[in-house]
Amino acid sequence: MSDASPLFVIENLHAGIEGQEILRGVNLTINRGEIHALMGPNGSGKSTLAYAVAGHPNYEVYEGRVLFKGENVLEMGPDERAQLGMFLAFQYPTAIPGVTMANFLRLAVNSVRQARGNGEGKPLTPREFRRLLREKMELLRIDESFASRYLNEGFSGGEKKRAEILQMAMLEPEFAILDETDSGLDIDALRTVSEGVNSIFTPNMAMLLITHYQRLLNYIKPHFVHVMLDGRIVESGGPELAEELEQRGYDWLKEESGAVGS
Ligand SMILES: Nc1ncnc2c1ncn2[C@@H]1O[C@H](COP(=O)(O)OP(=O)(O)OP(=O)(O)O)[C@@H](O)[C@H]1O
Ligand SMILES: [Mg+2]
Repeated sequence: MSDASPLFVIENLHAGIEGQEILRGVNLTINRGEIHALMGPNGSGKSTLAYAVAGHPNYEVYEGRVLFKGENVLEMGPDERAQLGMFLAFQYPTAIPGVTMANFLRLAVNSVRQARGNGEGKPLTPREFRRLLREKMELLRIDESFASRYLNEGFSGGEKKRAEILQMAMLEPEFAILDETDSGLDIDALRTVSEGVNSIFTPNMAMLLITHYQRLLNYIKPHFVHVMLDGRIVESGGPELAEELEQRGYDWLKEESGAVGS
């Protein structure tokens, strides 16, 4: 496939839970090198989009396609999507008792390396792994003691978010969706995490940031901003759209799009 084809495409996606349609025809194209922000009021379907794309078992897809590197990921299991180079960080990350951060990361990194043929698909040696982990933890200013803690167990809100970004830094995905990575971060952590995300980002990858606040977008500059209302993207623009939303809220878009309720 040529490099000119988009990295990630959502076509007319209809999805929901238990027969209840939440996404009602979402279209989105993201190219390599682009950062897109997805905003919108509570309950508009942003997290549903992230879960449907990730292949969460509770979410049903009724119609449409999601193409990553030209392949329809809706036909793949969540692990295959990750192995193909997608990374999804969730609004409410789960704890895995008994599994340390370092062990979890080593398994995840080696599984992705193997599937993607990185370094000829060979697993990292324990020494290589430790060096990589230390480098990324320094980058994100995460305390070394984190590596031996159980994944997300007893992590504070902000620590969970940092742990997510650490996962992303270790996995080096080509496409990442971050759902409210900024929520619960204190001002310093927001800056550290944003700097970390910026330093991980390369022109060969792309990112979709789901956020409520312009604040994050001051640190991580999006090329495009989209607004979701009632399960559809009703407005797209440049970074100035986020500033306009900060000033004016969502009501003007609700009126323009004829959306009811929400
Ligand atoms: N498990 C579920 N069962 C029933 N309804 C659900 C479930 N999960 C989500 N919904 C509904 O789907 C709609 C969209 O939810 P979603 O979490 O995608 O919104 P969001 O845009 O991410 O909101 P927020 O900004 O608050 O995170 C909401 O009305 C929500 O109540
Ligand atoms: Mg959400």
